[in-house]
Parts: sequence; C-alpha cells; structure tokens
Amino acid sequence: MFYPHEIVSEVRGLNDVVDVVAGYVKLTQKANNHFGLCPFHSEKTPSFSVNRDKQIFYCFGCGASGDVVRFIMQMENMDFPEALKLLADRVHFRLPEKGTGYEAQKTSNLRKIGAELNKRAARYYYDYLNSENSDAKEARDYLEARGVHQNLIKRFGIGLSPPIWDGLLTYLDDASREDMVAAGLALQSRKSDTRFYDRFRSRLMFPIIDQQSRVVGFGGRILHNEDKQEAKYVNTPETALFKKSEQLYGLNLARKAREKELIVVEGYMDVIAMHQHGFINTVGVLGTALNDAHVRQLRGANCTSVTLLMDSDDAGIRAALRAIPVLIKGGIKVKILDIPDAKDPDEFLTQFGSRKFANILQKAKNHIAFQIDLEKEKHDLSTTDGRVGFTQEAAKILATLPSAIEMDAYVAQVAKAAAISPAAILSEINKQQGTPERVTITPRVMRSRANRADYGLIKAQKELLHLVLTSPPAARALEKSQHILPQTMSGDIYPRLLTIAFENASRDTKLSPGDIMDLLDSPEEQQTVGEVFIDATDYTSIADMERAMTDMVKKIKLAWLDNQIETQAKMQKIDLNAVNKLHFEKKNAATLNITMRDG
Ligand code: CTP
Ligand code: MN
Repeated sequence: MFYPHEIVSEVRGLNDVVDVVAGYVKLTQKANNHFGLCPFHSEKTPSFSVNRDKQIFYCFGCGASGDVVRFIMQMENMDFPEALKLLADRVHFRLPEKGTGYEAQKTSNLRKIGAELNKRAARYYYDYLNSENSDAKEARDYLEARGVHQNLIKRFGIGLSPPIWDGLLTYLDDASREDMVAAGLALQSRKSDTRFYDRFRSRLMFPIIDQQSRVVGFGGRILHNEDKQEAKYVNTPETALFKKSEQLYGLNLARKAREKELIVVEGYMDVIAMHQHGFINTVGVLGTALNDAHVRQLRGANCTSVTLLMDSDDAGIRAALRAIPVLIKGGIKVKILDIPDAKDPDEFLTQFGSRKFANILQKAKNHIAFQIDLEKEKHDLSTTDGRVGFTQEAAKILATLPSAIEMDAYVAQVAKAAAISPAAILSEINKQQGTPERVTITPRVMRSRANRADYGLIKAQKELLHLVLTSPPAARALEKSQHILPQTMSGDIYPRLLTIAFENASRDTKLSPGDIMDLLDSPEEQQTVGEVFIDATDYTSIADMERAMTDMVKKIKLAWLDNQIETQAKMQKIDLNAVNKLHFEKKNAATLNITMRDG
C-alpha cells in the first residue's frame, strides 16, 4: 500500500460511501440499505446496494463490491492512489507527499514526471506550430484548409513537432533522458547507449488529455500523406500514464457539455471537426475497438446514451456491431448513425455543413433497428428463403430486448417487412429466449453452488465470518473452542478471512470492511468481503449471538466432517481408524456449544 493505513482510513472516514455513490447513481433508501441501478452492469430493477453503517456497496446482481475507494477506482477507472487522491480532494484533505510502497511510489512518480514532461512538450509543440518557421506556416495552412481554425487549435492544444532529431530533447534538457524515454517522448538509439532522439518529428501533434486534465500522451499525424512509407499516425507507446486502447479523445472537453448523450467517432480529426461545428459532446476512440475501459469512462462522465458515428465502410459497420453489446452491458443506450455520402463525419461536415449534419443526426437508428436493417439488406425479401432467413435473424436480435413494448413495436415492423405473421415471429423469439445462450445474472453464490445444502453452508460461513470479523470477543471464543480452523472453511477466500479475524482479535482491533479489503489482493477476494458484510444479521443480545454462532459452527463442522469421511471412503485403502474418529467427532459436534465467556 502506497499511503499509510491511517491516512487511507482518514480519507475513507471523511467520504461517506452513500454520498459519494449518490453523485453517480440515483439511490432510494430501503431499510438499512440504499438501492439503485448498478453502474457496473446493465439492469432494469435496482440490485445495487449501498450501506451507510458498513460503508460498502454490493451488487446482488453482478457481485461488484467494495468500499468508497474501490467504488471510485471502478467508476473513474483509476488506480488506488488516484482514487484516494480524488476523494481527498473532494473533502479538501491534503495527502502527504511521501509514501512507503516502493513499486507503487515508483509508478506514481513515473506518472507524475510523465505528466509534467508531456505538459511541457505540449507547450513546446504548440509554440512551434505558432512560430515563424516555414514548416509551421505550412502546417497552419494545412489545418486552415481542413477547417481547423485558430480557436480550435487552441482549445485542443494542437501543435507541431519540428523536423529535427532533438528539438524536444534540447528544449527539455533539464529532464533525465530515461524519464523522456519512459514518458514515450524520446527513443534511445539502437547503436549507442548514450544517444537519444525525439519520437515525434514533423508531425501535427494532438495532445491527449485525461479527466484529471493531465496530458497523458500524443497522437502525431504526418503532414504530407503522399509518402505512404511512414505511418499516418505515430502515438505515444504504452507508458505508466497512457494506454491508447483505453483513451477517449476529447472527453475532457465533451464532459463540459454536461450532456447525458455523447457522440463517439473514430479518431482525432473527426473529434476536432465535430467540435469545430458545434457538436462539442463528441469523443473519439483512437483506432481501436470500443471496450469496457471506454464504457467506464463514459459512465464516469454521466453519459447514459451514445450515438456511434462509425466510418461508413465495412470496417465501420463491424466496429459498430462489436461496440453495441459492450455499451449495452455497461448500461448505456446505443444509437448508430450510418453517415450518407461521405466516408466519415469530418468529410460530411466539410462538404455539407453542420445544419445538414444535425439533420442526419436526428435519423440515428437505435441499435435494434440498425441491426435489423443490416439483416434486411443481407436477405432477398422477394424470395421465401430470404424472408425466412431474415425473420430468423431478426428474431435473434429481438430476443435480447428486455421491454415488451419495444418488442411489440419491432415485431410489427419485421412482420410487415417479411410478410410473416407477428404470432409466428413471437414464437420464434420465444424459442430463441429459451436457448441457454442467453445470459442471465444470478447471484454469485447461487451460480457456483447449485444445491440448497451448499447454499446453506455458504450462508453459515459468511455469517460466521461477519460475526468474528466485527467482534473480537466472538473471534477469540471461536478460536479457543478449536471447533473451526481456517482450513475447515470451504474455498480459498473464507479460510483467509478467518485467519484475518483471528489475527485481528489477538490484537483487539476492529476492522472496517474497507480495511479488510485493503489486506486482500484480488477483486474476487474483495467481492467476498462485500458479500459477507452487506446482508449480515445484527444480534440484539449475547445469548442470541451465542445461539447463532453455535448453529453456524455446527453446520460448518458437520459439513467438513462429512466431506472428510467421503474423502476417506474414496481412498484405495480405507483407514478405518480415521473414519471411526471422524464419526466420533461428528457425534461430539452435534452437542457442541460456543459461549462468549471464552472470548
Ligand atoms: N490511427 C492510428 N494509427 C494509424 C492510423 C490511424 O493510431 N496509423 C488512429 C488514430 O487515432 C486516427 C484513427 O485511428 O485518428 C482513425 O484513423 P483515420 O480515419 O485514418 O484518421 P483521421 O483521424 O480521420 O485522420 P485524417 O482525417 O487526417 O486522415
Ligand atoms: Mn478522416
């Protein structure tokens, strides 16, 4: 952990999880929990719960879980220190500069240095573009000719890298060469260890700015595209700060539009053209498929609906088809616009202007209509085979619709187009929905443990863990009884949690769920903590607690003994002594009793 435990606890304590989540998700209170629609998976009825007493969130649908820091990490796509920083800033708490964890400190430093170097580099490229040099003038003319005016150059911080090998390196001569390489701004010569050169030369420079207003990287467009020897774009490589496949170009600006509906295009020039023409709620993916990381950022910007403007070729259509489920899964509505008479939005805007564009934007199809229309084009509806084929494909698409009203409307459309009765189409859809392909979300426990006995056992283990994790006396009583050891618990995570509870009890500290999550490494482990805490019973009396504990311990112990007996029975040579001993223990377990006096 990068920051000391006390600091993390303090920041956590100052940021109430319910208040923070309410900034992203609409919550309604029901009993002890606040419920809302889960921001991490798509759903129609709220199964995402936030608990003020326990300071955690937990989704009964997808299992997402954590404390306030983890909520921000997932929501804003940040690492732990970044999320902590955001929360500290939120309450005007000053984080200390120096931490301990060496690796974390190192990456964090690299990010910091990288952001600083990038910022200065952006300044340098920007100034060079606006200089009197002849190549700079030429570049300005090029931009002007493409309709990118001075105000846009400024807003996007567009620059130009000079046609020399060491322009930036000389300008940033106070920076270490290693830092320049780590930031992706310079390269080391292959021939000599001591020679370095600029990564970007003679290129239009597009700084990529993240949500925290850091310059995380650059895209560099070649100025003259005639010579196809060189790549059209050179981008910052993957660094501590930059991953091209996860960036949304222009999101820092689009956010300011404060619109729930964003437009997604492909590439730098299209984003800039859209902004130039007043469509400032536009962001761009950088030549990669739209993925979950993009979706998280869109959600973080409060976006609930996206219009995809893909290039109007096969690749663009394929990209749209791949993006649809990713967005839907992320709970974002999707519309798609097939741009007519131009290869991309930039070209359309330059040729036909913004008024016409606003008109065609109105005609964006929702993703169902888009997919159905594609199928319609694929089949020849003047033949019976074509009509049947089309209807079957359409039924597959419609089977994914959760709303009966929408379903009805589309069925009517398909029926008309294919001249097949709505009843027949509906029955085809039903057939589709019956197939196991369809994904339904069931709680994790139910999914992994099919039968009821297992479910009861899991429940007992979770409740027992909750009890011993929150009450050191209960943990001590359990440890002293020696009825249950960490390895008596099933799976990998429960034993670990019981060990934590025992260790914790011997130190007599009370851990919050967030503290416990800090001690665990994987998201799965952290999710289990959420499961253990979110729905736990609170006991009103010591006697109540003892009775419950005794019941749970019995159940767990008996299940473990049965399991051991079964294992013995499967052995080649059965150890009768051992089996007898296990049966004896079973008899004892039936009458065991846990009392808090032992704690
Ligand atoms: N891209 C890239 N590397 C390349 C080509 C493309 O990283 N060699 C990415 C860039 O982010 C680019 C996007 O893919 O913006 C879309 O590519 P393209 O349509 O060719 O670029 P435009 O931005 O439209 O540039 P222009 O209009 O100047 O050709
Ligand atoms: Mn283009």
